[in-house]
Amino acid sequence: MGQGILTGAFRAEDGALHCEGVSLERVAERAGTPTYVYSAAAVREQYRRLDTAFDGVPHRVHYSVKANSSLALLGVLRELGAGVDIVSGGELYRALRAGFSGADVVFSGVGKTERELDEALGAGVLLINVESEGELLLVDDLARQRAVVAPVAIRVNPEVTVDTPHEYTRTGEKGHKFGVAYDDARALAALAGRLGNVRLAGLDMHIGSQIVRFEPFNAALQRLVALLDQVRRDGAPFLEYLDIGGGLGVTYDGEEPANAERFAAGVRAALAGADVRLILEPGRYLVANAGVLLTRVLYRKRSGGKEYVVTDAGMNDLVRPSHYKAYHKVEAVRPTGRRMVSNIVGPVCESGDFLALDRETDDVQPGDLLAVRSAGAYGFVMSSNYNSRPRPAEVLVDAGRWAVVTERETYESLVRGETLTPAWRTD
Ligand code: LLP
Repeated sequence: MGQGILTGAFRAEDGALHCEGVSLERVAERAGTPTYVYSAAAVREQYRRLDTAFDGVPHRVHYSVKANSSLALLGVLRELGAGVDIVSGGELYRALRAGFSGADVVFSGVGKTERELDEALGAGVLLINVESEGELLLVDDLARQRAVVAPVAIRVNPEVTVDTPHEYTRTGEKGHKFGVAYDDARALAALAGRLGNVRLAGLDMHIGSQIVRFEPFNAALQRLVALLDQVRRDGAPFLEYLDIGGGLGVTYDGEEPANAERFAAGVRAALAGADVRLILEPGRYLVANAGVLLTRVLYRKRSGGKEYVVTDAGMNDLVRPSHYKAYHKVEAVRPTGRRMVSNIVGPVCESGDFLALDRETDDVQPGDLLAVRSAGAYGFVMSSNYNSRPRPAEVLVDAGRWAVVTERETYESLVRGETLTPAWRTD
């Protein structure tokens, strides 16, 4: 299979879309809509493709949990041998619940709290990627209280011009909030060397997400490798990891997705034989095209000369079109062959609530099902209860079987933790 098509896991059979041979119409009937459906085979295929591309280079793929943190999906990745990249105490909790151990975890994030850092030390994580001097000092302090030595990496901002589809998903340009400014990293590494309860074990970068042009990435990596040399020459005996972040792009529309072999070739060249253990933090690449959002058409109408399709999934279920103007392919689960152009919109009370605008699809009618493609990454995890809408169910398909792995929320789950009768305090 070429890398340019979405994935072979979702295919038409008997005139309707199936996932690994499982009828999406049947899943929708049994599990309701909106529902996210993921293919385990598609995740495995992407994982193996990336992992194999780095054969011969000491490396580990640490799946970026934020892309899709469903326990069942984490289980699939754990079985493949992946580690994880987390950004919160909540993600650490999930990773441990999914059977990962501390040694499988790298902890990223610009604003880790004292509690989160302490939990990470308690779990014995492989690396804490620190992003400021303040954080480094806090880690040293917390490690001292636990009488341990914390393995840290410094997240460096390589300060290159990043090319991603939306400015919100660029993180490696000068002045961004992420990482330590390139020119300050050497001094911070020296400080780490002087502290008693941290061990400088790595350098780290993550420059952005949905990258399909790798020149900026390779330039950033060269800068990171140069810094690695410098810091080693300054004397950093435990510096063994180079964490190059995530960001590999996938196909949403016609764009050429990141090619794992070409990506790996670029990385090998930039490493120039440097003696390091590589850490990769892909999220989207592993799961985006392994998932669809299934939604049912509620209504059709015309307004101001425009055709509208109103679906039961809205921006609270999948915010990417609204938030990033992101393109997701939308297709009828049972194509009619008659085509039309419409705005496909959700039930949420905002004009920004749409799945697709001016989009050509099959001519669907109320009751018909649509599949919103490439929804496996940053879909469910960014969903909310806006408009008091219960969040959707998640279904995993594996080898011709399927299971609800996250139950649809109920009205009761909407008010859990709330009270009508406040327990007033005056202290
Ligand atoms: N490592 C770090 C430190 C990150 O911040 C991220 C993503 C990743 C790895 C994984 O990046 P990926 O391989 O998935 O591109 N919500 C946005 C994407 C935000 C990405 C945030 N950081 C979207 O829906 O496009």
